[in-house]
Amino acid sequence: MSTEVSSGIQARLADLEKRNEAAMAGGGAARLAKHKQGGRLTARERVDVLLDPGSFVEMDRFVSHRCTNFGMDKNVVPGDGVITGYGRINGKLVYLSSQDFTVIGGSMSRTQANKICKVMDLAMKNGAPFISINDSGGARIQEGIESLGGYADIFTRNTMASGLIPQITAIMGPCAGGAVYSPSITDFVFMVKNTSYMFVTGPDVIKTVTHEDVTKEELGGATTHSAKSGVAHFAAEDDKHCLLLIREMMNFLPSNNLDDAPVLPTNDRPDRLTEALNNLIPENPKKPYDMISVITECVDEGYFLEVHKHFAQNLIVGFARFNGRPVGIVANQPNILAGCLNIEASRKGARFIRFCDAFNIPVVSFVDVPGFLPGKDQEWNGIITHGAKLLYAYAEATVPKITVITRKAYGGAYIVMGSKLLRSDVNLAYPSAEIAVMGADGAVSIIFREEINKAKDPVAERARLTAEYEAKFSNPYVSAELGYTDEVIEPAMTRKRIIDSLEMLKHKRDITPAKKHGNIPL
Ligand code: HXC
Repeated sequence: MSTEVSSGIQARLADLEKRNEAAMAGGGAARLAKHKQGGRLTARERVDVLLDPGSFVEMDRFVSHRCTNFGMDKNVVPGDGVITGYGRINGKLVYLSSQDFTVIGGSMSRTQANKICKVMDLAMKNGAPFISINDSGGARIQEGIESLGGYADIFTRNTMASGLIPQITAIMGPCAGGAVYSPSITDFVFMVKNTSYMFVTGPDVIKTVTHEDVTKEELGGATTHSAKSGVAHFAAEDDKHCLLLIREMMNFLPSNNLDDAPVLPTNDRPDRLTEALNNLIPENPKKPYDMISVITECVDEGYFLEVHKHFAQNLIVGFARFNGRPVGIVANQPNILAGCLNIEASRKGARFIRFCDAFNIPVVSFVDVPGFLPGKDQEWNGIITHGAKLLYAYAEATVPKITVITRKAYGGAYIVMGSKLLRSDVNLAYPSAEIAVMGADGAVSIIFREEINKAKDPVAERARLTAEYEAKFSNPYVSAELGYTDEVIEPAMTRKRIIDSLEMLKHKRDITPAKKHGNIPL
């Protein structure tokens, strides 16, 4: 009897093993070998690099498609070209999907979409991040519009999950047509240089329709999307680098919108003086400097994970910690376009702030902004609408908001950049801060035009009036007198004061009137 049971289970285990092997083989040895050319990892290897060792639990390994069109009934691989399940990143639960290009080009079938939706639903119900590793030729052509239905189900879930759980996409292969929209709804898009592409229509269609010649890489490669369009937030060197970057980012994020971001122990003292900052801001207000140095001087252990590093470089955004607590940093970069705000910078900043606000991550802003970038190009392309996005995002955010004005804070850009006037909590300014309606040169040209024109020596008169304007307004004290600036600090105190403020605001609650949703100017 016992021998019988034993041989019975053995046979069943052997059968299970055979089925597992078939699923693990993906599209077969030849396709796997081809896929790996050029150093790309397979769908399963990607999961292994992304997750803590041994933590992955696969679901739906045997799910198979039902399509019989065009001989598809003879092309069935268990799992149907996507690996789904859950695991841990630095101990934290995440759900994921990883498309396998070796199985029918990783194409999106109805069943593949069902698998992905199943883990997305679990991620939402359990309040854990969802990570999607994309490597797919798009909608499975043999299935027709059924596969489109699958995409639509994923888009709907991406939208429902937005602001509820962090969603991250790694583009690790081609991503065309509707396949680019799911990534774009997610919070952060990671691409790999030279092997991943995103476009609505590929080079061939473009050639036919507009007669333009463009390569895949130029049109929708990682460099293009991380520097020109801003569609991608990171451009990794290779698959492994991409997955490790995602692990790094996860350290800053809470699991869901009701969770706090993880606090990590640090050896960096909260009262460390940031003395280097006393000499970092140039005396000459026209001289640029690198705002990254200000950030790294202040944050724990100088560690700053910059997001969108190559896009709209006049505004810096990224994650760092103060006394172990994650914050989102937003900062003007005087080294690029003098730190002016333009369309791209406004979009970049607004989206980042909204992410931080949705996930309880305080926003710390460093401000040196002469204004919005003037010009026909900016006006015609809608700087009014796009600039308003940044304004809206700052005003809407209810997380702790702390702003340090290092130098210029002029006009509308001053209001926008986390000023006290937009429900910001703490505004600090350096003695070098110039908080004014506009720069002295511009102001004098407008209000003293007649006096300058009539003067015997217009140049000398302009210089005199400029100096007078500067003495009156180019400082932080008018703003401090009005209570718009809470404290004028020695730059060496920056780190300490930010940490004091974060501690003071630890239990902040702010109310926004109940409504269905706002209507951010899009
Ligand atoms: C079915 C597909 C497929 C697809 C690739 N394959 N894409 N099968 N549906 N969408 C299959 C190929 O037939 C091939 O099968 C295998 O995957 C590998 O593809 P190759 O072409 O050999 O690979 P490569 O040379 O690397 O080229 C990759 C590629 C190319 C650039 C992605 O395959 C391609 O252009 N695919 C079609 C892209 C596309 O137009 N997709 C539909 C978009 S419409 P064998 O058996 O030979 O190995 C869409 C609408 C969605 O997505 C809208 C949602 C709202």
